[in-house]
Amino acid sequence: MPGTVTHLDRVDAAPDGRPPDPYASADHPMRRLTEQVAVDPGTWDDAQRRQVAGFFDELAPEWHTRAGPDCDAPLRDAFGRGVPGSLAGPAAEVGSGIGLTSATVAARFTPALAVEVAPEMLRRSPAGPAHRVLADGARLPVADGALAAVVLMNAFLFGPECDRALGPDGVVVWINSRGPSTPIHLPAEAVVDALPGSWVATASECGSATWCVARRG
Ligand SMILES: C[S@@+](CC[C@H](N)C(=O)[O-])C[C@H]1O[C@@H](n2cnc3c(N)ncnc32)[C@H](O)[C@@H]1O
Repeated sequence: MPGTVTHLDRVDAAPDGRPPDPYASADHPMRRLTEQVAVDPGTWDDAQRRQVAGFFDELAPEWHTRAGPDCDAPLRDAFGRGVPGSLAGPAAEVGSGIGLTSATVAARFTPALAVEVAPEMLRRSPAGPAHRVLADGARLPVADGALAAVVLMNAFLFGPECDRALGPDGVVVWINSRGPSTPIHLPAEAVVDALPGSWVATASECGSATWCVARRG
């Protein structure tokens, strides 16, 4: 459902011009799948889950080469400027990969779950402080309303499942580390639209990333 997005100015220096990523076009298969599951999550099936898990299992050994030392900066910015300071409780970082940002999630939300569909990604993740969970973000193994936050960094958005798993004050934290050049990218307006019911969001940029934090309106 369409909702309001408030765009905040960035608080860091804008990055120097960088060449566009060659794999980030709008017809990238991951972009198409991102849009598909956001708009129509019912189309996500076992075959797609197996295919995606296999794809990321193969990337797992070199995934660490893709991230810089400050890869959690947009997450910290979103937590600091987008998430209400009073919000506390459990969080699920869905599509946590090899756990590059899981400690940052665990520092803000307790307990934190690092949820992965690709076993090889999860196997390479640290055993703590986030609890590793092999599961599908479309079917989180948590009770209705159990979570304070669903954190998605370059990961697919399953709106109805976020809505089910989040408590009344819960937030969806959406990060695209290369902004619109991220294969798994949605603009903030599309994130809000993908969530059932009435949601509002705060959005901004940090480094080359875009982020938004959505909460019920
Ligand atoms: C582009 S990677 C991002 C990993 C990490 N968040 C990062 O930014 O480094 C997307 C991750 O989402 C995982 N993933 C894809 N579909 C998923 C699903 N339905 N449930 C849980 N994880 C999923 C993939 O296995 C992959 O590790």
